[in-house]
Amino acid sequence: MPTADLIWLNGEFVAWEDAKVHVLTHSLHYGTGVFEGVRAYETERGAAIFRHADHLDRLEKSAAFYYMDLPYSKEQLREATHELIVRNGFKSCYIRPLVWRGYGPMGLNPLENPVEAMVAVWEWGAYLGEEGKRNGVRAKVSSWRRISPESLIPHAKATGQYLNSVLAKIESVKAGYDEAILLDDKNHVCEGTGENVFVVREGEIATPGHTASILDGINRRSVIEIAEDLGYRVVERDVMRSELVLADEVFLTGTAAELVPVREVDDIEIGSPGPVTRQLQQAFDDALHGRSERYAEWLDVVPVPSRA
Ligand SMILES: Cc1ncc(COP(=O)(O)O)c(C=O)c1O
Repeated sequence: MPTADLIWLNGEFVAWEDAKVHVLTHSLHYGTGVFEGVRAYETERGAAIFRHADHLDRLEKSAAFYYMDLPYSKEQLREATHELIVRNGFKSCYIRPLVWRGYGPMGLNPLENPVEAMVAVWEWGAYLGEEGKRNGVRAKVSSWRRISPESLIPHAKATGQYLNSVLAKIESVKAGYDEAILLDDKNHVCEGTGENVFVVREGEIATPGHTASILDGINRRSVIEIAEDLGYRVVERDVMRSELVLADEVFLTGTAAELVPVREVDDIEIGSPGPVTRQLQQAFDDALHGRSERYAEWLDVVPVPSRA
């Protein structure tokens, strides 16, 4: 994988290869970590982090769901991320903050274990490939159901919860697809392994709502706002599996993948990428890269220290 010079670990900048933890780290055994996936883009105003405050808010909430306080304030994490990007010399990058239960007592009660934090950055291209972004990906409806709110909190971006996505991803890749779409425990469409899902039919855009065990995607929220600003009707509602193939267009949104058309579901061709997806993709890309005045407030521009 691509690397960087430095990682921010528990308040210090350390060399990439020295950012290590003990093998008895609690979260390594029990999945008691929470994280974020964030991106910084090259803009005319410099490197800018897309919806940084919203990602840090979600990190704080995910931590709270697992009874952890962030060991550093959100402002400290924000400033550390700025400095990390500058010191690694990146104009654009993926950003991975992680907060976890560290080395301490073993066993399932984590409350005595220290809470640790790190932020790593690296250059990461289109997660589902440039070709996928341009012409669409092939998706398979997974045989695995998305974690139920009766067992875990789907809104938490917690490391252990991602075993669900990992199983679905492996299944889809082994079967020759690019991505999996998971149904929820009520058999409604939920989301991809790391993306939210939208279906477009006769000009109307629908996406599963919060009762469908989704992660409250920040790009989902952004694309809903952009679509409404462009005059589309966007409905958050239950989406049936059959709607994935009845749709005129299907697309996914997520930080890693950005906005990606789905051109086939279960080997059935859809019209994607169609005109609605294309228009949203363009408007979203403009927002990400600071080309849109309307969404300028979504960007946290990384200050470059003066040389004086
Ligand atoms: C399971 C899951 N759903 C949806 C998303 C999309 O969320 P966001 O747009 O905030 O990246 C992600 C990515 O973080 C994810 O991991």
